[in-house]
Amino acid sequence: MVPPDMTAQLIRKAVFPIAGLGTRFLPATKASAKEMLPVVDKPLIQYAVEEAYSAGIRQMIFVTGRTKRSVEDHFDTAYELENELEVAGKLSLLSIARSIAPDDMLCTYVRQPRALGLGHAVLCSRELVGSEPFAVLLADDLMVGTPPVMAQMVAQYTEWRASILAVQDVPREHTRRYGIVSGREVADGIVDVSGIVEKPEPAAAPTTLAVAGRYILSAGVFKELEALPRGVGGEIQLTDGIAQLLRREKVFAYRYRGTRYDCGSKLGFLQATVDLGEEHAEVGAEFRQWITERAGSTTRKA
Ligand code: G1P
Repeated sequence: MVPPDMTAQLIRKAVFPIAGLGTRFLPATKASAKEMLPVVDKPLIQYAVEEAYSAGIRQMIFVTGRTKRSVEDHFDTAYELENELEVAGKLSLLSIARSIAPDDMLCTYVRQPRALGLGHAVLCSRELVGSEPFAVLLADDLMVGTPPVMAQMVAQYTEWRASILAVQDVPREHTRRYGIVSGREVADGIVDVSGIVEKPEPAAAPTTLAVAGRYILSAGVFKELEALPRGVGGEIQLTDGIAQLLRREKVFAYRYRGTRYDCGSKLGFLQATVDLGEEHAEVGAEFRQWITERAGSTTRKA
């Protein structure tokens, strides 16, 4: 695998569609962004941005909507906070605050004026992306991998020079939650995609190979998205744009190495919180001990 630092220039931009309403997390998301929900002590969106950054990507493009101002503030410099921490001598907290937006990272924002789906959100980034291949990261999917999943994908892009979709096998009864791909395995963990369909019913799903929220796409996808009619749920689906792209260009699916937490669901969010809590540098050991003791006391009670 080519190390990410040698491939950084190939994929320079990442798109984060964050205009969604987050209704599954009401009431928490009534007035605030679901992407700002913290898993332990870090907002979901920061995990995704850090993943892109560690893949050598430096331009972060957020496709935002109403109630998402806190995301812009989060990746901005917080002068008052930094000043207070500096005066109080709280230098480790100061370095945490500063590390959120490293000097070489550029954040740009574009609004998605209407909620017309993921494909439409990606299309809103067209002017900012231009004609180069780019990454898309859905912050709802918190990915934990070594190397980080987007770095794995950038390495795959370097080898295949075509769009790459992160995929995983899912139980057949879950196909209606995902884009599902079919195709031929051409290398270990790499499928040459011949078809992709959005959220098929289990009985109709061609395979159980599901797209996770990580993509590297050629700019050719914009032309396809622009020409699309509304798909499932009256929305412009990214999956449909990719299906059209397939007619002109190669697309590969890559079985990523790592764990995906579906933080768009309460259960996935709780699972991420427990797993990452157990690994946390500051509270992990104590939390693990608490969980063990608690499991013991629950067993005794049962
Ligand atoms: C979106 C995509 C779907 C993909 C999924 C991954 O669906 O439309 O193809 O498999 O993300 O999380 P959503 O979860 O936004 O409904």
